[in-house]
Amino acid sequence: MDRNLALEFVRITEAAALSSARHMGRGDEKRADQAAVDAMRKAFDSVRIDGTVVIGEGERDEAPMLFIGEKVGKVTGDAPKVDIALDPLEGTTICARGGENAISVIAVAESGNFLHAPDTYMSKIAVGPKAVGKIDINAPPQDNIRAVARALGKDIADVTVIILDRPRHEKLIHDVRFTGARIKLISDGDVSAAIATCRENTGVDLLIGIGGAPEGVISAAALRCIGGDFQGVLKFRNEDERARAAKMGIKDENRLYTINELARGNVMFCATGVTDGNLLKGVRFSEANTAHTHSLVMRSNTGTVREIMAEHHLGKKPL
Ligand code: FBP
Repeated sequence: MDRNLALEFVRITEAAALSSARHMGRGDEKRADQAAVDAMRKAFDSVRIDGTVVIGEGERDEAPMLFIGEKVGKVTGDAPKVDIALDPLEGTTICARGGENAISVIAVAESGNFLHAPDTYMSKIAVGPKAVGKIDINAPPQDNIRAVARALGKDIADVTVIILDRPRHEKLIHDVRFTGARIKLISDGDVSAAIATCRENTGVDLLIGIGGAPEGVISAAALRCIGGDFQGVLKFRNEDERARAAKMGIKDENRLYTINELARGNVMFCATGVTDGNLLKGVRFSEANTAHTHSLVMRSNTGTVREIMAEHHLGKKPL
């Protein structure tokens, strides 16, 4: 994949962020998400790729756009064949409530390199570069916290674990509190939470818990680029999810997926902030029909992390 493609992909997340940010705090999750989907779908048309969505808005029967299997991009003779994992608005509820850390994301890999994760849950653990190789999703949280504390040269009391605030995590939260570690409970958005474990100034050391499986693949792609570590185990809620997974080729339901099994090879990742967060600033609409966006662009090949601040003149854009 040509490295310049990464800068094309960021235009796509910027377009989705600009559109969905208009709906911030309006209480309408569907409209915010639809705005992001429409803008992202349209923006793909100008990027010279032969792309297939492998992680998207859902299966064809439930998502009219950016569904799993949909072809995207401007296909020319030499356009690279790529697989795409995307979430036009990661944190729909966050955006609708005007909360923190809603982002628009795309991860791209050469064909066949992302796990085709079904739309189910995934148990996840993520850490930054200093704790690579020290985590084990099948071990109790106290063992992982101890290992991460050692790797970071911190006391356990100074380790911060980020966890989705859900009733299913009651025991996990109890166990983490028992170790003496600090907890940051978040309402939504475990992709930005996973990335936060890799960014020094976020104050987050470890993500543990169950969230969406598609978001797990996207997080793994991001952490491949930024040098973190991630493991996941699929968690099915019912027989229908089990059957869908089997159709996608998933046989062993207890299988532990390493970061390299979720996102292999050469990976690119782009995210643009929709609402303010500890990772990215949200979209700012300013005078004279201008808007500012803040994005991250990363590539696994080089590990370069680019932060892109852009000023958009909306009157000149086909939004
Ligand atoms: P959406 O943007 O699709 O609403 O996802 C937000 C999110 O919080 C993800 O970050 C997370 O993986 C998942 O939902 C958790 O699912 P649930 O809300 O069912 O616990």
